[in-house]
Amino acid sequence: MSKRYTITAALPYTNGPIHIGHLAGVYVPADIYARYQRLQGQDVAFICGSDEHGVPITIKAKKEGVTPQDIVDKYHAIIKQSFIDFGISFDNYSRTSAKIHHDTASEFFKTLYDKGEFVEEITEQLYDEEANQFLADRFVIGTCPKCGNEESYGDQCESCGTSHNATDLINPKSAITGKTPVLKETKHWFLPLDKHEAFLKEWILEEHKKDWKSNVYGQCKSWIDDGLRPRAVTRDLDWGIPVPVEGGEGKVLYVWFDAPIGYISATKEWAEREGKDWEPYWKDEDTKLLHFIGKDNIVFHCIIFPSMLKAEGSYILPDNVPANEFLNLEGNKLSTSKNWAVWLHEYLQDFPDKQDVLRYALTANAPETKDNDFTWKDFQARNNNELVAIFGNFINRVVVLTNKYYNGVVPVPNEFSAVDEETLATLRAFPAVIASSIERYRFREASQELMNLARLGNKYLADEEPWKLIKEDEDRVQTIMYVALQIASALAILSEPFLPFTSKKLKSILCHAELVEASTWNSISEGQELLPSNHTIGKAELLFSKIEDLDIQAQLDKLEASKKANEAASKKVEPQKDEITWEDFSKLDIRVGTILEAEKMPKTKKLLALKVDTGIDTRTIVSGIAESFSPEEVIGKKVTVLVNLAPRALRGVESQGMILMTEDESGNLVFVNPDNHNKVNNGLKIS
Ligand code: MF3
Ligand code: ZN
Repeated sequence: MSKRYTITAALPYTNGPIHIGHLAGVYVPADIYARYQRLQGQDVAFICGSDEHGVPITIKAKKEGVTPQDIVDKYHAIIKQSFIDFGISFDNYSRTSAKIHHDTASEFFKTLYDKGEFVEEITEQLYDEEANQFLADRFVIGTCPKCGNEESYGDQCESCGTSHNATDLINPKSAITGKTPVLKETKHWFLPLDKHEAFLKEWILEEHKKDWKSNVYGQCKSWIDDGLRPRAVTRDLDWGIPVPVEGGEGKVLYVWFDAPIGYISATKEWAEREGKDWEPYWKDEDTKLLHFIGKDNIVFHCIIFPSMLKAEGSYILPDNVPANEFLNLEGNKLSTSKNWAVWLHEYLQDFPDKQDVLRYALTANAPETKDNDFTWKDFQARNNNELVAIFGNFINRVVVLTNKYYNGVVPVPNEFSAVDEETLATLRAFPAVIASSIERYRFREASQELMNLARLGNKYLADEEPWKLIKEDEDRVQTIMYVALQIASALAILSEPFLPFTSKKLKSILCHAELVEASTWNSISEGQELLPSNHTIGKAELLFSKIEDLDIQAQLDKLEASKKANEAASKKVEPQKDEITWEDFSKLDIRVGTILEAEKMPKTKKLLALKVDTGIDTRTIVSGIAESFSPEEVIGKKVTVLVNLAPRALRGVESQGMILMTEDESGNLVFVNPDNHNKVNNGLKIS
C-alpha cells in the first residue's frame, strides 16, 4: 500500500528573485526526494508558495515608490517561473496573499485564541516618532547583544544567526528614518513557548535524537537549553494578515506565524483543485510530514511551528526537518543586496539548456553537513568530467553502436559471461543503494552513486570492447550490447529525481516510454528486462555538452564586476573640506591638455611618465595611473591638468603638474574629462 507524504519546501520571500543558494539548500533536495517518492508509487503532496508578508517587502516597496502588492506580484511571477524552469515539481505553488491563506491563517489564530493558547500582554515596543509607526523586525537596525554586529536586524542577526526581539538591540535605529526610536506601549499576543518546553524536550531531544540531522538537532538543543520564552505572534504593521480578534485593529499576524500555515493553505488549494481531501495530508498519523529548509529556518520549523500545531491540537508534527547549511559563492557569502549571487533567471540566459547541470553540480556539492562553496571551476569540472565524459559518453556509445550494428534494434543476447553476470548483479544493487542515500537525506552521496552506475557502464564497454570484437565474434557483441542497453535504461529511470530533463530525453532516445512495465525503480532491482530484445531505440542525441573556459571566465568576470561595484558603493563620501575664498581658488591654474607620449616608469607598477601638450608648453608629468591604463590607451587623450603645481621629483623624474582623475562607479580610475574637452583647444583655462 502506498504511504502518504506531505513534503514542504520553505516558502521563499518575495522581495527578490532566487539564486543558486536557494536551489542548493532547499529546492533541489526537496525535489529529488519528492520525485523519488513518486517513483516508489507513494502518495505525495509536494507543497510550496511565495512568502509575501514581512517587513523587507514593505521596505522594498517604499524604496521603489510602489505598493507591497506590486512587489510581491512581480517576484512571485519570477520565482514561480524559475521553479518551473529548473524542474522543481511542486504539486502546488501558492502564495500567502491568496484568500485561502488569509482565511486559513486567521482561522488558525482564532482557534488558538479561543483555546486560550496565547498570552495577551501590553509591552513597550520601539516607535519611530517621525514616521509615526512602530518598528518591528527589519524596521530596526542596531548592535546584536550576542555578537556585537552593528548591523543586526530587529528580529535576527545575520552575523551570528541569533534571533531576538527588536528591543534587545543595543543602540537601535529606525531603518525608515535613521532616527533613534522611543519606547511606546502596545498590546500583543504571545505564544508561550515556555509552556511547550516539556513536550519539545521529549519530542525533539528524546524521540528525534537519532533520526534528525545533527546540525538540526544541535540548534534545537541549544534553543531548548537556553530556556524558551514567549514569542510575540502579532505586529503593529499594515502589511500582513489582520489580527482577527477584538483589539487587533491596526495589527497583523507576525510573518513567521502566518508563513508556515501557508503550507496548509497551499495543500488545501491543491486538494480543492484535484478533488481530494486535504485533511489526511495534515491530520492522519500515518502521513509523513517533512520540511525542507535552510539552517536559518530551523527554530521556526522545529520549535515554533510545531508548538503552534500542537497547541491547535488536530495536526500531525513533522517527521523530519532535513535542513541544509549555507552555500557560499567563490569564497564569499551569497548576498542579494551585494549582488553576490548566481541568479537563476540569469543563469538560464547564459546556459539555456543546462538546468540539469546546475542541479547536478549543486547536489554533488550540496551544503548538507557544513557550509560549502560553489565555484564556477567546480561547476565546469562536474559538467565536463562527469556528465559529459562519463554519463553522456556512455549513453552516446551505446546508442551509436546499437544503431550502427543493429539498426537500433536491441539484440538477442547469447550466453552471459561471468563479467556480464557480475555487471548485471551490480546493476541490480543500485536502486537500493541510491534509495538508501535519498531516504537518509544524503543527496550528494546519492548523486555520486548515480554517477557510479554510469561509470559501471563505461568501464564495461571499455573492458569488453565491442568495437574490436564486431569483426571476429558477432555473437559476443550481441550480448555485450544487450547488457549495456540494460544499464542505459536503468540510468534513464534512476536519474529522474536528479536530472529530470536528461532522464526524459534519454527515455525518448531509448523509446522507453513504450515500455510501461519496465519503467519503475523497482523493476531494476527485481532483475526485470528493462529494454527487451527486438525493441527499437531512436537515434543518438547529445545529452550534455562541454563547457568551455571562456564561458566560465565570463561568469567570473560578472562576479568581479559585482565586487568592484560593491567596493565603490561602500566607499564613504568624504566630508567637505574647510571653506576657501575666491582668491584661493583663482590660484589654481587648470588647463585643457593632450597626452602626446606615455611610457611605464621602470621598477614601479603605478607610475606612467607622460608628455603633455598644455597649450603653454610640452612638459613631463608623472601620473599614478599605470594600473588602470596602458601607455597606448592614453596617448592622444584630452585631459584636465593642474599646471602650476610646484614641480616634484618622482623616482628621479621631475613631474611638472598634475592630471585630474576620479573613480567611476566600479572603482576604476577615469580622467576628469568633460564631454566637450575634445572641442576645446589646449591651454584653455578652466574656471
Ligand atoms: N520566507 C522564509 C525565508 O525565506 C521561509 C519561510 S518558510 C515558512 O527564510 F515556513 F514560513 F513558510
Ligand atoms: Zn549577532
